[in-house]
Amino acid sequence: MPDDPHRHIDTTAITAGRGASGDSLAPVLFPATTYEVDTVAEHAAMMGAERTTKLYSRFGSPTVREFEDAIAEMEGAEAALAAASGMGTVTAVVLALCSQGDHVVATNQVFSVTYGLMAFHLPRFGIEVTFVNGTDADAIAAAVIPGRTQVVFAETPANPALSLVDLAALGALRGPITVVDSTLAGPTVQHPLEYGVDLVVHAATKGIAGHNDSLLGVVAGSRELIDAIWAWQSTMGAQASPFDAWNALRGLRTLPIRAHRQAESARELATFMEGHSAIESVAYPFLPSHRQYDLATRQMTSGGSMVAFEVRGGAEATIAFIDRCRLARIALSLGGPETLLTHPATVAARYSPAERADLGITDGLVRMSVGLEHVDDLRADLGQALGGS
Ligand SMILES: Cc1ncc(COP(=O)(O)O)c(C=O)c1O
Repeated sequence: MPDDPHRHIDTTAITAGRGASGDSLAPVLFPATTYEVDTVAEHAAMMGAERTTKLYSRFGSPTVREFEDAIAEMEGAEAALAAASGMGTVTAVVLALCSQGDHVVATNQVFSVTYGLMAFHLPRFGIEVTFVNGTDADAIAAAVIPGRTQVVFAETPANPALSLVDLAALGALRGPITVVDSTLAGPTVQHPLEYGVDLVVHAATKGIAGHNDSLLGVVAGSRELIDAIWAWQSTMGAQASPFDAWNALRGLRTLPIRAHRQAESARELATFMEGHSAIESVAYPFLPSHRQYDLATRQMTSGGSMVAFEVRGGAEATIAFIDRCRLARIALSLGGPETLLTHPATVAARYSPAERADLGITDGLVRMSVGLEHVDDLRADLGQALGGS
């Protein structure tokens, strides 16, 4: 936890997570899988301790712990736990907390692989899932079955069309453990734990690591919950690699400034797209036209780096537009320095039309992760690819 509760997050991003690096200003990479001790008694003490970092790296590693401590401090949490990917974290959280016969409530606007976990895999383990519209706080509350619902899982802002979940309403739920996937905002834009949400999850692969060179997930919350997730995750073997945590620690130092610049550009591009005749609709949380604009400005400090928009003319026109972009590249992922475009209907092609409708994926939808290029160059690129005005 921070020494000074009034300290700005930009400063915390610089000062946090330095517990294992001594006087080195850059994080020290500990690639070791195992560590020696002098006596069996020392080993015995370590085996009995929770989350030891210098025993065997499936249980924890000093570099990964520095990253976890930094995230915990930025999220105002007691503890955090990193995993081998964002999905490693999502899976570890749900499987650590739920058992056969339990019930999960999940918002249906979620990352497509999270949707697959909830819709297809959890039922295999006898865990029942009810999907609800995440924009309807009453529907989320009504779906909770007292005594049976173990987890309420929500993503906000949500893939793919940037709808929001009301964090205050979610945090007010009593009974189930509430979990928010906050990846699309990141730890500088919103703080779900401040609203009473139990656990915040990030695919740190994205904006946190920020350079498309680290596959990593992280969850933050109370020490009790994090220890329980750790016990399952270290059995499952989904621990974060020290190298990826090391890259993410470096990325974290510049996250506030990157996130700020990306959000400024995203807002400008969203405004440009909204006024363009080839565009059907634009979703960006900090555009006044966003259906949840008031909620966005209440619970987020910026609209984030993602813009979703629908191109007029259906799938063919949309794909042709994406193919014409030169500066914005076609690639999965988000939050990195390069502006990236995806056509969610193509990426989620394995889902049925009904499932795609459930996920909010239309033929003309484009998801854009705004990078760090100059906004004028991005506007020019999107403009030439759209044609007209
Ligand atoms: C909101 C969200 N959660 C989780 C993930 C999964 O992250 P990873 O690819 O690191 O497993 C993603 C990936 O795009 C995502 O967008």
